[in-house]
Amino acid sequence: MSNIVVFGSQWGDEGKGKIVDMLAEKAAAIVRFQGGNNAGHTLVVGGDKCILHLIPSGILHPGKVCLIGNGVVLDPEVFCREIDTLAAKGVDVTPRRLMISKKTHVIMPYHRRMDGCREAARDAAGKIGTTGRGIGPCYEDKVARVGVRAADLADFKLLQEKIARALEEKNVLFRHLFRCEPMDPAAVFEEIKPFAERIRAYLGDVSTAIQKVKKSGGMVLFEGAQGTHLDIDHGTYPYVTSSSTVTGNAASGSGCSPRELTRIIAIVKAYTTRVGGGPFPSELSDEVGDYLQSQGGEFGATTGRKRRCGWLDAVVLRESVRLNGPTELAITKLDVLSGLSELKICTRYRYGGEEVLYPPQEQNALAHVEPIYETLPGWNEDITKARGYDDLPENARAYLNRVEQLLGVPVGLVSVGPERGQTF
Ligand code: GDP
Ligand code: IMO
Ligand code: MG
Repeated sequence: MSNIVVFGSQWGDEGKGKIVDMLAEKAAAIVRFQGGNNAGHTLVVGGDKCILHLIPSGILHPGKVCLIGNGVVLDPEVFCREIDTLAAKGVDVTPRRLMISKKTHVIMPYHRRMDGCREAARDAAGKIGTTGRGIGPCYEDKVARVGVRAADLADFKLLQEKIARALEEKNVLFRHLFRCEPMDPAAVFEEIKPFAERIRAYLGDVSTAIQKVKKSGGMVLFEGAQGTHLDIDHGTYPYVTSSSTVTGNAASGSGCSPRELTRIIAIVKAYTTRVGGGPFPSELSDEVGDYLQSQGGEFGATTGRKRRCGWLDAVVLRESVRLNGPTELAITKLDVLSGLSELKICTRYRYGGEEVLYPPQEQNALAHVEPIYETLPGWNEDITKARGYDDLPENARAYLNRVEQLLGVPVGLVSVGPERGQTF
């Protein structure tokens, strides 16, 4: 059976969680391969809303195996809180169906503190607007080869040594650069210990688990977090997250071969949103932007911040197609566009006196492009009950067709509401 990779094609919050939850029905295992609890993936089933930050979005389907890959950064306290919340709803979150790779890096209390200090030290224009969850500092330690890995949570001697070594360096920064209290290694260990004791039971070999699913003929569903333009290499650097969010990392971040990635679904919100700092060429700071924000309920699922809103940007999406190779598009939140008399799509940018089809690559270049739009007629009908292409008004169909044409990738899925069933 073809495995599926789901990825965000814009700046995150495209509706990946909803689509993964829907596709999970046919999967045997669902894997997160990058990011951490900076993600907020919303699932709505029978009116009940569930926001997942770390646990794969297949968890509401009984019996499906949920795997947290080596490419993820895991905050032990957040993991424990999330399983407790799910268990209280009657969801099975036992190690029988939930596994954390022993190679997954662990977000430590000093990573969260460092994230806060770094952001506070930046001037208004330089602020990245991180989620404050310690994501960047944890990936920094991973790359610096001094990180704590999930397996270390079962080896207290090694864990204590790593904490002590990390704080030798970080306390110099806390004390002398950021002018705050140093952190005590013993206190950090005591803070992490109860969570470490609970997490031990979940540690496993995710790479082998994926192989087993494959051998038994089951489908593996890879769940991306964030979005392509938040990617550490290909995103709007430095206003990005600290992981590789593109589909190539689904293999590396979970421990399987790229040959396993057969069906690739780009999640495309029918307009564009961004939360945090950084350039956003098609951003609308007028009543249309406000309309999208309120109709779309565009508040961050992790931090509650208002999301910035704008028109669909085909330049950004074209780059996502080039980087991720989607076999199909899933267009989400099409219903939010109902009620607008006309719709715009940014098809090109004007940059340095030329028209360009792809984002220029110099730092912060996107802050200096001029979007070139084409205008399509809107529709007034409520489309939240549409369950097929033919149920859509003509102008909604024309909008989908134009997106398909601009990107050269077929639309395979359309979502017209937050509920699991509001999809065709
Ligand atoms: P993710 O991070 O990509 O999983 O997306 P988020 O969960 O952060 O944000 C998407 C929001 O849109 C959530 O509140 C979803 O419940 C909601 N949503 C998803 N698909 C649709 C849709 O087709 N229509 C509407 N109106 N809401 C949707
Ligand atoms: P999901 O998976 C939207 C943004 C933050 C900030 C930047 C860096 O729900 O789509 P970080 O804390 O990662 O160092 O912050 O990235 N960001 C997201 N924006 N959706 C997300 O995840 C995000 N995860 C991080 O707002 O601008
Ligand atoms: Mg989100």
